[in-house]
Amino acid sequence: MRNLFFIIIIFCGGLFSFSQNYKAKVDSIMSLMTLQEKIGQTVMYGGSWDQTGPIVGADNGKYIREGNMGAMLNAMSVKGTLDLQKVAIEETRLGIPLLFGYDVIHGHRTIFPINLGLSASWDLKMIEESSRIAAEEASAEGIHWTFAPMVDISREPRWGRISEGAGEDVFLANKIAKAYVKGFQGDDLSKPNTILACAKHYVAYGAAQAGRDYHTVNMGEGELRNVYLPPFKAAVDAGVETFMSAFNELNGVPTSGNKFTLRDILRDEWNFEGFVVSDYTSINELIPHGFAKDSIDAARIGMNAGVDMDMMGHLYRKFLKNLVEEGKVSEAYINDACRRILLAKYKLGLFDDPYRYINEERENTTKYKPEFLAKAREIAAASSVLLQNNNEALPLSTNTKKIAFIGPLVKDEYDIIGNWAAKGDRQGKALSVFEGISEYLNSDQILYAKGCDILKDDESGFGEAISISKQADAIVLVMGEGHHMSGEAASRTNLKIPGIQPKLIKKIREANPNKKIILVLMNGRPLNLSDEVNLVDAILEIWFPGTMGGAATADLLFGEVNPSGKLTVTFPRNVGQVPIYYNMKNTGRPIPDNNPKEDYKSNYIDVPNSPLFVFGHGLSYTTFKYSDFKLSSQNLYTNGTIQASVTVTNTGNYDGHEIVQLYIHDKVGSVTRPVKELKGFEKIFLKQGESKIVTFEISVEDLKFYNSEMKFGVEPGEFEIAIAPSSDFRFKHSFNLLD
Ligand code: NOJ
Repeated sequence: MRNLFFIIIIFCGGLFSFSQNYKAKVDSIMSLMTLQEKIGQTVMYGGSWDQTGPIVGADNGKYIREGNMGAMLNAMSVKGTLDLQKVAIEETRLGIPLLFGYDVIHGHRTIFPINLGLSASWDLKMIEESSRIAAEEASAEGIHWTFAPMVDISREPRWGRISEGAGEDVFLANKIAKAYVKGFQGDDLSKPNTILACAKHYVAYGAAQAGRDYHTVNMGEGELRNVYLPPFKAAVDAGVETFMSAFNELNGVPTSGNKFTLRDILRDEWNFEGFVVSDYTSINELIPHGFAKDSIDAARIGMNAGVDMDMMGHLYRKFLKNLVEEGKVSEAYINDACRRILLAKYKLGLFDDPYRYINEERENTTKYKPEFLAKAREIAAASSVLLQNNNEALPLSTNTKKIAFIGPLVKDEYDIIGNWAAKGDRQGKALSVFEGISEYLNSDQILYAKGCDILKDDESGFGEAISISKQADAIVLVMGEGHHMSGEAASRTNLKIPGIQPKLIKKIREANPNKKIILVLMNGRPLNLSDEVNLVDAILEIWFPGTMGGAATADLLFGEVNPSGKLTVTFPRNVGQVPIYYNMKNTGRPIPDNNPKEDYKSNYIDVPNSPLFVFGHGLSYTTFKYSDFKLSSQNLYTNGTIQASVTVTNTGNYDGHEIVQLYIHDKVGSVTRPVKELKGFEKIFLKQGESKIVTFEISVEDLKFYNSEMKFGVEPGEFEIAIAPSSDFRFKHSFNLLD
């Protein structure tokens, strides 16, 4: 059927230009829609992906034709999306285009480091570039919308999804959220190389009890507003078009049925104009949560709470119409949801040309472009963190006679691209560490043994690994987690390097008591490395570094690139310290600086309170000296600013980047404040011997927080301040905030 939509377009076209008055155009379309058609826009189903692409399955085809589906996930490629879009445009009454969504999380084809790794670059430009490239590649394969960025703060290394976020700190996470949104959405959504971003998972998903995925969250509103909500607000400020409600409950109310967070905060306080999609069947899950008595009840709660689109749940399609007719869901809510979804389609330009993302030439020429791969290599190196480097074990000389490369991940090109690697190929595209080092060494310099698997307990490979380690002048172990050990539903209670890998490390050290041993780690979370720090000389954390990860790792190992990443998440000494993060509260019984062993203080009797590696930690092959801290004034007035500066000097033998960090401490508050809070950072480049003055401006805005009455503001008083290379320092300076 030739549809009414084009009649409307012609009508509207006479009145408005396409670049303006979206809202009026949507209203015109909506005036033609039946209630069920409006509900149809709130429904998302999945494409049944097979080798050649998603097929219009019997049900999907039927739903589209009936006008009962507004969006699809996991449908992509020109071939796959064209067929589906044609059905929507040519075979429905109104011809409203479908929206195709997909999890483009840290790259689409060209895969960048996992997001936790990307955050460790502290490089907002690079993060934006990574999501820009991801959008280029994804949009060329028919995708309009990514379910990213995940902006959940997490201080829970047991939680597998810590790998998908920006770590534990609010200030940094806010900036990173904005960078992702800008990269995905660009400046103009109607360009066919931009895609809708989605801030997820709203909200507090990263605080799951005991780190178990989908688990309960209980937290006071102060913590919610001061820690977990801000990155979502930052995404709204950056113009994010969509939100995803989460799986977890929050203080007894599941977040996919939570009117307080979805309507009161997101819409009424923040004026968010985009739409909210549920997580995958998260509306249905209101039933097992014990919050809805059946599917009808769940649909009612979801829509009334403010979830505009039902991902995979079948509930809105089946039940909303009756619920409206029975007066249990207001039609105004359906209109609002439908309007928000249609607006997004308009902004993408889909009403102008529903096939604008479906372009065979773009699809064929956009993936794995050499410039994308070069960027991926640069970003992977910048995201790696040199955790330990005793006696300058790294970099290795390319003249080393023989280097033994040992471990299950040396030749890996499967795990290296990490979890949620979209359409990144797990074979044939990613460079393994072995391929990377082969760019630097001749084959007679390289010895290799796998040694063991990541998880199996078969020690039969130990003998060969130990034997080659003895023949070598230096040893590089490439070990860690499999990619499936982090991400969704991949929580762990044990934070050790998995399987028998730690045992192999020990044996290799025993066999080579005086040899240089380097541990290169791939993993999606902070690990407990308490044993390994004593067994190896250097530890290079490369996370899952992506398509060019092997090459980037070699660049770092041989000093072609100087490591510059710093941790955005604390590495504990053991799992018993969890949750552990740098900006904790002081307690009434903090450990005195001068006597950490004093009794009846807030400490453990078996391990120190301090973590193994602090937030903000990361070494370089060079050294940096911080000197000449200056404050422009001792007093900050509520309408003014002050400047804090420090001189940073490269005192070592390599050029390098340094991430300079500004922290404050609000000493007394009407509610207690964290012992340290990051309030600024700058990544600078210094040549050997070079110095730079780094200046931060502090305004009252930076010092605001939610008090016990949930008022956002500042309280006059004394603030400590420091500029430091990591969060491991003691404050020496302060200023006063005056009315
Ligand atoms: C469930 C995950 O929680 C979410 O992050 C993802 O976007 C959806 N599935 C869609 O794949």
